[in-house]
Amino acid sequence: MPRPATLITGASAGLGAEFARLCAARGEELVLVARRRDRLEALAAELGNAHVVVADLAVPGAPRRLLAETEALGVSIETLINNAGFGQIGRIAALSVERQSEMIELNIRALVELTRLVLPAMIERGHGAILNLASTAAFQPGPNYAVYFASKAFVLSFTEALHQEMKGAGVRVSALCPGPTSTEFGQVAGVTRPIPEFLSADARSVAKAGLRGLDRNRAVVVPGLFNKLGTQSSRFVPRALMRRIVASVKA
Ligand SMILES: NC(=O)c1ccc[n+]([C@@H]2O[C@H](COP(=O)([O-])OP(=O)(O)OC[C@H]3O[C@@H](n4cnc5c(N)ncnc54)[C@H](OP(=O)(O)O)[C@@H]3O)[C@@H](O)[C@H]2O)c1
Repeated sequence: MPRPATLITGASAGLGAEFARLCAARGEELVLVARRRDRLEALAAELGNAHVVVADLAVPGAPRRLLAETEALGVSIETLINNAGFGQIGRIAALSVERQSEMIELNIRALVELTRLVLPAMIERGHGAILNLASTAAFQPGPNYAVYFASKAFVLSFTEALHQEMKGAGVRVSALCPGPTSTEFGQVAGVTRPIPEFLSADARSVAKAGLRGLDRNRAVVVPGLFNKLGTQSSRFVPRALMRRIVASVKA
């Protein structure tokens, strides 16, 4: 019988590493996935019951290969945390076509494929859980961050739909929508004016909120009061005004 495990993508840094620490503390067997092997191996050594699978999920076919490797480890995915993702700041016309496509491949395609590939076994077993990383960026268009915001809008919509489809199937599905959080995200995105530390959440508390929301099968989890108010405001602030506000903040 395969052993139940939690698979975390993007576990080599930031939120992914914190999910790994929290899940390990709950006694879960882990599969840690990212591109940087040294980081993953150091984390696995720290945590104990963890396997390392190095994968570039932006490469077509990577999710299928990853799950084949996972099967060979003798585990079945009880919990999938689709966390790997990145953003890139700048005007669409100024950013590289390849990097924007890579973002779509990772933030959207890999997330959808992994979800689709683990679902049948979860449905058959009658239990399982999927946590997808969206963002507060999912709630409005993002001038100067256009592809990233749009990718997270996709993740939110996709995850809410799946949450509804899984009602009664025993499979919990949640979208975690953090606001600014202290990780390597800003550095990777090319942000030159980082959000002050005191306005950023710490990765551990955000990961904790995500797991709590998943345990309770909340469709959408927005950690932090300020972020909750911000995402609710998209209900009554006209979209044209919202676009201008985001453009001025992300300029
Ligand atoms: N930090 C924030 O303010 C914030 C806010 C809202 C949502 N989020 C979302 O939270 C998630 C985690 O981001 P983070 O803030 O923790 O950023 P991070 O510190 O930059 O971590 C990103 C993780 O994704 C992995 N990754 C990147 N490209 C990959 C690829 N092609 N294949 C496999 N793994 C890849 C990275 O590992 P390798 O480089 O080793 O591959 C790293 O482990 C993302 O989906 C992000 O959009 C972040």
